[in-house]
Amino acid sequence: MDVFSFPYQQYLKDELPEEIKQLVAMAEAACAQAYAPYSQLKVGAAVLMTDGQTITGANQENASYPVGICAERAVLSTINPSDDRKIKAIAVTYTAEDTTQLAPIAPCGMCRQSILEMQHRQGTPITLYMCGPGNEVTMVEDSEFLLPFSFGNKDLPGYKPQG
Ligand code: THU
Repeated sequence: MDVFSFPYQQYLKDELPEEIKQLVAMAEAACAQAYAPYSQLKVGAAVLMTDGQTITGANQENASYPVGICAERAVLSTINPSDDRKIKAIAVTYTAEDTTQLAPIAPCGMCRQSILEMQHRQGTPITLYMCGPGNEVTMVEDSEFLLPFSFGNKDLPGYKPQG
């Protein structure tokens, strides 16, 4: 039997590097851009580019539920990974009506698939910081770890890299 395992690191918010503290603060602020009248879960995501720029997004729900988009994919949809800059890290967090909910949020399966495609497109790892209203942060250095045995362009014989 083979076993898959991967490294992750747990931090308290004040132990994070300064640049990441700021990224988490941006993700926290982005929760205010969320439209979440159905779930009441306001999720914010902030992307740190290799040139230091940060970009934010938030979940946008819809009365037709599957039309809604998660914060991670909302922000990623604004980025062109073909330019010289790459995505270094993504922080994701949330505010919830239930104030006892404090634990870090983890990207859903669809967002993991989307983040991993971005990682493959840019050819360098995207580090994820999973946060919540509480003080704990879980960091995974490489998005590949969150989606083992993933489906990707290798599975599509018709795939042609876009120049
Ligand atoms: N959601 C996100 O925006 N990101 C995640 O990582 C998990 C879930 C959103 C989707 C939906 O608007 C709400 O949270 C409840 O599922």
